[in-house]
Amino acid sequence: MKDLILVTGGTGYIGSHTAVELINEGYEVVIVDNLSNSTADSLDGIEKITGVRPAFEQFDICDKQRLDVFFEKYPSLKAIIHFAAFKAVGESVDFPLKYYRNNLVSLVNLLDCMHTYKVPSIVFSSSCTVYGQPKDLPVTEDAPIQIAESPYGNTKQICEEILRDSVRSMPELKVIALRYFNPIGAHPTALIGELPNGIPNNLVPFVTQTAAGLRPELRVFGDDYPTPDGSAVRDYINVADLAKAHVTAIGRLLNKANEPGFEFFNLGTGRGSSVLEVVKTFEKVTGVPVNYKIVGRRAGDIIAVWADTTKANKVLGWKAETSLEDTLLSAWNWEKKLRGIK
Ligand code: UD1
Repeated sequence: MKDLILVTGGTGYIGSHTAVELINEGYEVVIVDNLSNSTADSLDGIEKITGVRPAFEQFDICDKQRLDVFFEKYPSLKAIIHFAAFKAVGESVDFPLKYYRNNLVSLVNLLDCMHTYKVPSIVFSSSCTVYGQPKDLPVTEDAPIQIAESPYGNTKQICEEILRDSVRSMPELKVIALRYFNPIGAHPTALIGELPNGIPNNLVPFVTQTAAGLRPELRVFGDDYPTPDGSAVRDYINVADLAKAHVTAIGRLLNKANEPGFEFFNLGTGRGSSVLEVVKTFEKVTGVPVNYKIVGRRAGDIIAVWADTTKANKVLGWKAETSLEDTLLSAWNWEKKLRGIK
């Protein structure tokens, strides 16, 4: 029998790509999502890519009673991948309680149910935001956690602490936190991808929407950073590559039946790219110009961060494989499909 995995937030951007990779690797998937920042259309995409339509339950995991009903309905659940969370840094500054309530309560509810219904394994979506601006680059998992720049970032830090404390108190619990750098791009089939709500906050959806004519111009936030071209540097990781790391993490949790604990891994490419490099690479691979203007720095942005991926490479046996070029092309193919551009 196939192992059944719960993917919370599974109709969302990273969740839908992970559902595809899980199904491709022979897992059975059940998705829980309240569709607050995604649509059920991604289920069609997952089905078209894999030939399998995952089970789907629409509800909010902050509703503990409803979550109990779910766990009772799926007694064969083997592990959880927890994506469901709010993620807009700016919004979290304006509505901190919304972020604390949603991102913390959902995890607490899941951990409660994992204990009650004896599902000991969870992969948690964390972020490189926990490192702030690291002193040494590339950043390793040993780098100190810095005071969070935003309530969003703080929820990721607190969630990791909740998981660490829970591992101490629940001897059966096995946790892997994956610290994502900057996930971008879409599935190579262009059947699933990122669907930002309203005006995108993140760079690549803004680039693709500008190229598609939805936005008049991209604002490049700052060209006076101490970086080679003056714009900020990030580690942009292909979303399908990132999704595969979750499948590897699930395999690791399910295989070490008697080894509880808390592990955490950086998920990036190990390479930093500047904002201007992303824009120019996008123009080069797509042949589509991006109208952009240099403006002042964005509050709260760090200068540069990219991952040391040695631990994920060695311990998980996972490595990012897709080039920035192919990843940006996949983002553009997805945008073209959304907008009906030939
Ligand atoms: C941030 C968080 C990350 C979080 C993500 C979710 C950090 C280090 N990273 O990523 O943990 O998961 O938000 O949204 O806190 N840029 C422009 N013009 C734009 C948009 C972005 O120049 O219109 C620049 C930014 O200034 C930045 C780079 O592009 O230098 C990447 O920005 P973005 O895609 O928003 O991601 P982060 O801020 O790195």
